[in-house]
Amino acid sequence: MELFTKTLFLCLALALANGAPTHHHDSAEAGVAHAALPDRCDGIEFDAVTLDENGVTFFFKGDHMWRGFRGPAHLSSESFHHISHVDAAFRMHNTEHPEDHDHIYFFVDDKVFKYYNHTLEDGYPKPIHEDFPGVPTHLDAAVECAEGECNTDLVLFFKGHDVHVFDVKAKTVKTKTWSHLPACTSVLHWLEGYYCFHGHNFTRFNPMTGVVTGAYPKDARKYFMSCPNFNHGGHYEVPKCSEVKLDAITTDDEGKTYLFAGHIYMRLDTHRDGFHAFPITRAWEQVTHGVDAVFSYSDKTYMIKDDQVYIYKAGVPHTLIEGYPKTLKEELGIEGHVDAAFVCPNHHTVHIVQKHKMLDVDLTATPRVVTQDLPLPLFDIDAGLCGPQGVQLFKGSHYYHYDSIILLAGSRIVPEAHNITSKMMGCQE
Ligand SMILES: *[C@@H]1O[C@H](CO)[C@@H](O)[C@H](O)[C@H]1NC(C)=O
Ligand SMILES: *[C@@H]1O[C@H](CO)[C@@H](O)[C@H](O)[C@H]1NC(C)=O
Ligand SMILES: *[C@@H]1O[C@H](CO)[C@@H](O)[C@H](O)[C@H]1NC(C)=O
Repeated sequence: MELFTKTLFLCLALALANGAPTHHHDSAEAGVAHAALPDRCDGIEFDAVTLDENGVTFFFKGDHMWRGFRGPAHLSSESFHHISHVDAAFRMHNTEHPEDHDHIYFFVDDKVFKYYNHTLEDGYPKPIHEDFPGVPTHLDAAVECAEGECNTDLVLFFKGHDVHVFDVKAKTVKTKTWSHLPACTSVLHWLEGYYCFHGHNFTRFNPMTGVVTGAYPKDARKYFMSCPNFNHGGHYEVPKCSEVKLDAITTDDEGKTYLFAGHIYMRLDTHRDGFHAFPITRAWEQVTHGVDAVFSYSDKTYMIKDDQVYIYKAGVPHTLIEGYPKTLKEELGIEGHVDAAFVCPNHHTVHIVQKHKMLDVDLTATPRVVTQDLPLPLFDIDAGLCGPQGVQLFKGSHYYHYDSIILLAGSRIVPEAHNITSKMMGCQE
């Protein structure tokens, strides 16, 4: 719980409907006044919004841009040489072509500019049709949709109400008209959402059908930027890596990895879009006082706090299974504070760590019984995770790696401690 207490003040806040977070910050920090600079809190219609290869979101308007969800405007050319005004921008997803993957494409009139590491690639700018045959010039917006979320790797180019859908592999274009959607001046794919920005509002849509579900438009200032008068509450302070302290970590059957610390959770598998903290109650409504340990088993998430076990069905929204929470004794046949709990992929045993011992509980037996009780060489760990690469035990700002659960169970020595890094968890180095 101490966790994210000191340090600075990214107060990411969280608004909660339909998955888009709010970001705002302390009024003490609120904008340094730059008379000549545009203020996005005035309600700006952006020309383009895109992520870069590090998961930072850039917002463009005229010759200016904003980096991330807070802070003042800068000249676009300071971050992207040769760029001033842009019509549209997107970050490519194309894992088969590393020379394109995660590169940013900017569109200006009839030209395309391609950047990686904020450096213009050789041969650019070039006419749009050389890279994207069949796509018109003078675009309004562009966004990529990778196979999985769309039927194949696509780039959607917006111009008025027309959407030119470019198939990345086949290099063909199909044009659709989505008259029901506002004319988007910029479009962002962020986490699992597709957001059409229009005026100071945005509308979330389905990238395959254009269908809008839920109450839109919403004001972008409440969700995508830090505006003093648009607070939605919720505070999160990004910890220094040396001060990180987890409560729990788990990977579910869909490969989603969640970290828990204090009242927040964070997805680690979506780090391409940056690390973003949300209140635990946003996803798991009934878990109001943080967690001690969390594990995933058979499409369910088991969340342990004190002597209570909450079991949620995996999949969004997370729904608490009827009759829960139950006591640890009732559900797992154990008592006492749980430091960490984890299940290895395709196994049916939960390993429960309490101080200096690890209890194995067979999840197929009713009632549950402890099948093994082993001493651990490490004690008072915070969280544990078991995956195809082995087991990681987290203690404060360090973690310990074991190649397998068998090696951990048989081990009497403490392996080398590794530091938790910014790359792993978005903390400050
Ligand atoms: C990124 O660009 C900077 C200079 O702008 C350079 O120092 C650095 O080596 C580059 N990184 C990569 C991975 O190319
Ligand atoms: C923004 O959306 C609100 C509804 O949420 C609407 O009343 C308002 O007219 C919209 N403003 C613009 C500029 O689109
Ligand atoms: C781990 O972090 C500490 C500071 O917190 C630093 O002194 C140490 O060198 C780091 N160790 C490694 C292996 O990077």
